[in-house]
Amino acid sequence: MTVDALFDVSQEIVLITGVSGQLGGEYARNFLERGACVVGLDIQAPLENDLLITQYPSTYLFCTADVTNKASLQKTLSEVENSFGIPTVLINNAAIDSPPSAPPEENGAFEDYPDDSWDKVMDVNVKGTYLACKVIGAAMAKNKKGSIINVSSIYGVVSPDQSIYEYRRQRGEVFYKPVAYAVSKSALLNLTRYLAVYWAKSNVRVNTLVIAGVDNNQEDEFMNAYCGRIPNGRMANEDEYNGAVIFLASTASTYMTGAQLVIDGGWTAI
Ligand SMILES: NC(=O)c1ccc[n+]([C@@H]2O[C@H](COP(=O)([O-])OP(=O)(O)OC[C@H]3O[C@@H](n4cnc5c(N)ncnc54)[C@H](O)[C@@H]3O)[C@@H](O)[C@H]2O)c1
Repeated sequence: MTVDALFDVSQEIVLITGVSGQLGGEYARNFLERGACVVGLDIQAPLENDLLITQYPSTYLFCTADVTNKASLQKTLSEVENSFGIPTVLINNAAIDSPPSAPPEENGAFEDYPDDSWDKVMDVNVKGTYLACKVIGAAMAKNKKGSIINVSSIYGVVSPDQSIYEYRRQRGEVFYKPVAYAVSKSALLNLTRYLAVYWAKSNVRVNTLVIAGVDNNQEDEFMNAYCGRIPNGRMANEDEYNGAVIFLASTASTYMTGAQLVIDGGWTAI
C-alpha cells in the first residue's frame, strides 16, 4: 500500500481497547494493513483472532485484559513492551452501553434507572479510560511520544434525542436511551482536555473522537427514525471512522491536542 508520509503509521505501536467489538476490529485491521504493530485488548478475544495472528504474525498481539483493573493493564503494558516496545498510540475504545434488548428497567424512565447500572457504565467507560491513560499514557509520557484517542459519542456532546425511540413507546414499551452512557461519554471530553494540558510538554497528544451510530442491522423502525433525524440521512458504515483514527495517530495531526474530532453525518450540526 502506498501511503502519503503525512499519514504514515507504519512505525507506530497501536494499543486498541475493546478490540473485539464492532469498531475495534475495524481499527485493528486498518492499522495492520498500514504496517503498524497492533495490540488488541479486550475481556474476550475477537472472533477473528486466529486469522489476524496468521495474517500478521509479527505485528499483531492480543492481550486479555479488563480496563477497570489497573493490574491487568500493567500486565498488558509489560507484554507489549516485551513484544514491540512502548505503545505510541492508545485508542480508548472499550465501552458498555445498554443495548435495545436490555431488560426493561435499563431502558426505562430516568427515575427508575438502576443505580448499579450507573456504576457499571461509569466503571468501564470513565474509570476504564482513566486507568488506561494512567498506565499506558504514563509510559508514553516517560517515552516523550504518544497520541491518545478517547472515543466518545454524539450522546456525549448533546442529549440523546428521545423522539427517536417514540416508535417503541407507541408499541407500549417504556423506552428511553439511558442516562449513564451519555454522561460517561461526556466525561471523556474533559478527561481529554485535562490530560492534553498535563502531558503537553511530554509530547503526548490527547484528543476525543466523537462518532455517531453505526449501521449494524438495527430494526427498521429504529433505522427510519434515526436516519430521518440525521442530516445526511443514513447511519455510518463501520469503516467510516478509519480515516479519523489514522489522522489522529499520524503526523498529520501533530498540532492537534485537547480537541474533539466530530464525525457524525451532521447530527450535532442541528
Ligand atoms: N457503534 C456505534 O454505533 C457507536 C456510536 C457512538 C460511539 N460508539 C463508541 O465506539 C466505541 C466502540 O463501539 P462498538 O460499537 O464497537 O462497541 P462494542 O460493544 O461492539 O465493543 C465494545 C468492546 O469493549 C469490550 N469491553 C467491554 N468492557 C470491557 C472491559 N472492562 N475491558 C476491556 N474491554 C471491554 C467488549 O468486550 C467489546 O468487545 C465505544 O466507545 C462506543 O461507545 C459507538
